[in-house]
Amino acid sequence: MVRSIESITEPHYQSMSKHGAQGTIQASALSRKLPRHVAIIMDGNGRWAKRRFMPRIAGHRAGVEAVRGIVRACARKGIEVLTLFAFSSENWRRPPEEVGLLMELLLSSLQREVTKLHENDVCLRFIGDRSAFAGTLGEKMAEAEALTRDNRGLKLAIAVNYGGRWDITQAARRLALKVAAGELSAEAIDEVLVQEHLCLADLPEPDLFIRTGGEQRVSNFLLWQLAYTELYFTDTLWPDFDDQAFEAALASFASRQRRFGLTGEQVEQLQSG
Ligand code: IPE
Ligand code: IPE
Ligand code: MG
Repeated sequence: MVRSIESITEPHYQSMSKHGAQGTIQASALSRKLPRHVAIIMDGNGRWAKRRFMPRIAGHRAGVEAVRGIVRACARKGIEVLTLFAFSSENWRRPPEEVGLLMELLLSSLQREVTKLHENDVCLRFIGDRSAFAGTLGEKMAEAEALTRDNRGLKLAIAVNYGGRWDITQAARRLALKVAAGELSAEAIDEVLVQEHLCLADLPEPDLFIRTGGEQRVSNFLLWQLAYTELYFTDTLWPDFDDQAFEAALASFASRQRRFGLTGEQVEQLQSG
């Protein structure tokens, strides 16, 4: 009989890392109906514009409106963390004109929104390879982070020039440098240590992943962090993703049984106390 979550999560095999997969399940994660952390691939802006015979950038502008809506909705619901994929490490491959306009839009949105975000107690951060943003954009990002650092409301992470492979690579590089400097032994590297060197290390893992725009792929978003995230795909294009669409995603999440490798029966026993 299953007595407690500890009896299940305790490592049973010596070969298993102390903090390995078995050791990290929290009972609360099994029965949570509202996600603590929502991560979104905001896709479909270009197609939204195309359907209206408008230039792609008009779709990106409409997408910014949808960002406002989701930030408001998450703050209102008390969701702790919202991570938004705004620009991937692969999006540089787009026509230079679109890339340039996207960077302008990022800068102007940042300048326009940051005061309001601060007033609403939002703590903002940017994740991704920042070396690409050495100029004004990089400065504004750092300023926005410094301004909102101590805010206690929604934690909003915007992924720009982000790639899941880059994230894991930079973690590996930082660990290797520590080993080379004699600060760490290679044998001490375990899943917890790798996780601690990734973006979002200090935040709960995403509970719910949403991708709008109909594609069913991860497109190099949070590869490590999504290991046990519930995936939700919708055909709704990002600029059309409103409160009602978000409610549908949350309802889908609430209806699922998360098992983290356990059996359904084990989960039910744990949930019944
Ligand atoms: C997502 O919308 C925004 C970015 C990738 C910057 P897209 O621009 O990819 O829109 P579609 O997929 O072409 O419709
Ligand atoms: C993923 O969308 C990246 C962002 C939404 C920022 P893409 O439109 O770039 O993804 P692919 O190329 O269709 O996989
Ligand atoms: Mg796309």
